[in-house]
Amino acid sequence: MFIFLGYLTEMNLWIMSHKNKMLIDSPLRLFRDYSLRFELYNKVSKYFGLGDKKISYLEFGVASGSSFKWWLANNSDASSNFFGFDTFEGLPEDWGGFYKKGDMMSAIPEVNDSRASFYKGLFQDTLTEFISKNNSKISDADVRVIHCDADLYTATIFVLSQMYPFLKKGDIILFDEFNVPMHEYKAFKEFTENFYITLNPIGQVNSFYQTAFVVG
Ligand SMILES: C[S@@+](CC[C@H](N)C(=O)[O-])C[C@H]1O[C@@H](n2cnc3c(N)ncnc32)[C@H](O)[C@@H]1O
Repeated sequence: MFIFLGYLTEMNLWIMSHKNKMLIDSPLRLFRDYSLRFELYNKVSKYFGLGDKKISYLEFGVASGSSFKWWLANNSDASSNFFGFDTFEGLPEDWGGFYKKGDMMSAIPEVNDSRASFYKGLFQDTLTEFISKNNSKISDADVRVIHCDADLYTATIFVLSQMYPFLKKGDIILFDEFNVPMHEYKAFKEFTENFYITLNPIGQVNSFYQTAFVVG
């Protein structure tokens, strides 16, 4: 309980100190509107000119593919790559008091675009082999867009630490549930502190539930 309150307090202080410094402005909101995340993607994509750049898009937590399909549809470079990772069997553990292990189970999305590929299984089991086979596809892109949408602390800290060697200044990292103190926020905090990496917040919607960063 005390640990949670510590993270909650620290996260709120972090939010208060960053809310007026965003490149892409959006007001804090009392009620969440999930569709606003597409507005955030659109603004980030336009601001950094990602629509026609060669990007390597890696999404961790794909489920039925709503966000994955948005990024796929909004990039026109034929040499971009879109990699989607998920158990496709739902969350591997309970998340908070409401979501249970196995929730969010979904079939692998059907997409008609040869730039897209999906990797079924725990990130902890699939990512190391994926990286060894696709090292150059990740490295050679103009910009890497890493989308952390797995909700869980365990998944997010694993993904960030595995992606660390590839990150370059100007890469984009998106969090879909950033303002959950003991999950994505905790992973963000530990990653930035333990890897001495600077992630500059550039935009948020839903009072920092969805938050975008650029690697500094
Ligand atoms: C909120 S959903 C993703 C939503 C999706 N991006 C969208 O746009 O609708 C979170 C997903 O993360 C996946 N996930 C969480 N932890 C994982 C892990 N360690 N390995 C693989 N998938 C994981 C779950 O299976 C779930 O489908």
